[in-house]
Amino acid sequence: MSRTPVWEESLMAQDRPLAVVTGGSSGIGLELARQCAQHGFDVAVSGSSEKVDAAAASLRELGVDAWAHRADASTYDGVESFWQFVVGLGRPVDLAVLNVGVGLGGAFVDTDLDDELRLIAINVSGTVHFAKRVVQQMVPRGQGRILIVSSVSATTPTPYETVYGPSKAFGFSFAESLREELRDSGVTVTALLPGATDSDFHANAGMGDTVYGDNSWKNDKTQVAAQGFAAVMAGDDHVVGGDDATKQEAADNRTTPEPEKAAAMAEKARPSS
Ligand SMILES: NC(=O)c1ccc[n+]([C@@H]2O[C@H](COP(=O)([O-])OP(=O)(O)OC[C@H]3O[C@@H](n4cnc5c(N)ncnc54)[C@H](OP(=O)(O)O)[C@@H]3O)[C@@H](O)[C@H]2O)c1
Repeated sequence: MSRTPVWEESLMAQDRPLAVVTGGSSGIGLELARQCAQHGFDVAVSGSSEKVDAAAASLRELGVDAWAHRADASTYDGVESFWQFVVGLGRPVDLAVLNVGVGLGGAFVDTDLDDELRLIAINVSGTVHFAKRVVQQMVPRGQGRILIVSSVSATTPTPYETVYGPSKAFGFSFAESLREELRDSGVTVTALLPGATDSDFHANAGMGDTVYGDNSWKNDKTQVAAQGFAAVMAGDDHVVGGDDATKQEAADNRTTPEPEKAAAMAEKARPSS
């Protein structure tokens, strides 16, 4: 049986575009990484736990090259180390998915300030940091795609997730702002706004005793990721991730008064105990 020479395999791999996905070890990020792999991208994924190694192994099973990098995205050095890892691959980034994000539930009067500052470090500072590196590589090349994972929470006050929602509003506005700046650069920026989605996110945010603690009614993370991937490849400005009801909710949030939205959100996010 004839076998492709090693140098040819290497050449074929170099021909594949490269995607990087932050927070790609589980949840929506892993599904976005799968979308990339299924559409012929080699993929580098980051995460803070050993799950990231299993994620990369599962991506390789889809027939592409995949690399895992473990680092804490709440620190400057952690974010920078993933970027340096990507640079070390020796290939330009064609698609950057800025997905990593954490939540935090509970009454603001009770929650720990350190947890809130950590959330801001990951969701806001880390997004800016990684975007800076990506943009400064893509713009001189005159090509590239960036997907920033925001949330439907960007379109409403989020009581009992009082710092999380604003961090996602930052991501949405940041994406739309950067998109306009880069209009003629060959680099597109797209925001993904998932509604509530069936990942470990709310459990990790300490929201098990809220309406969000039950994953059964939430959007399918595979569907959300497919919508995000299609939007970034089409160069759309943003897409709401989820079912028709989620898309309607996001549309309604454009015109519903803030206090009314805040009261409705409080019912879902208020801890029962
Ligand atoms: N699920 C939802 O309902 C929902 C709705 C709207 C928007 N979103 C957004 O979607 C994005 C992904 O959320 P998800 O639902 O997939 O959450 P998830 O299941 O909790 O996954 C979070 C991912 O981020 C990584 N991560 C967390 N903390 C990290 C840290 N300090 N350093 C490095 N990596 C870290 C995790 O990897 P490790 O475990 O290996 O650290 C994991 O890969 C977030 O930006 C979130 O705000 C989620």
